[in-house]
Amino acid sequence: MMYSDKVMEHFYSPRNMGILGDANGIGEAGDPNCGDIMKIYIKVEDNIITSVKFKAFGCGSAIASSSIATELIKGKTLEQAWRLTNKSVIEALEGLPALKQHCSVLAEQTIHNAINNYRESQRLELWKNDLK
Ligand code: FES
Repeated sequence: MMYSDKVMEHFYSPRNMGILGDANGIGEAGDPNCGDIMKIYIKVEDNIITSVKFKAFGCGSAIASSSIATELIKGKTLEQAWRLTNKSVIEALEGLPALKQHCSVLAEQTIHNAINNYRESQRLELWKNDLK
């Protein structure tokens, strides 16, 4: 089987799918090659992501990646969520085929954009990829 059970499970039963009405950070990212688009809504309270939802106009791996990514950042601080790499998304999914690794990169980028969107609204300094 090309896809792990974990990928299939998150594809068939995505977690936290939808729109978060009271989000205070929204991030979007797209991959110009495949045309897939991901959107993540976060609600940040006292530096903690207390709710998160996603929408993905994309492939099964994009749906599975964003679904598991929302689980991984829920309840985390902004710093912890920022450090979620696409590699940890792949690990949590028990692997992605080589051609589908960019789907997990999309999840990482979308989270970064949502966090910076929140930080911008709070007039906080925007973070760069290499945040220490
Ligand atoms: Fe592009 Fe999955 S094929 S995000």
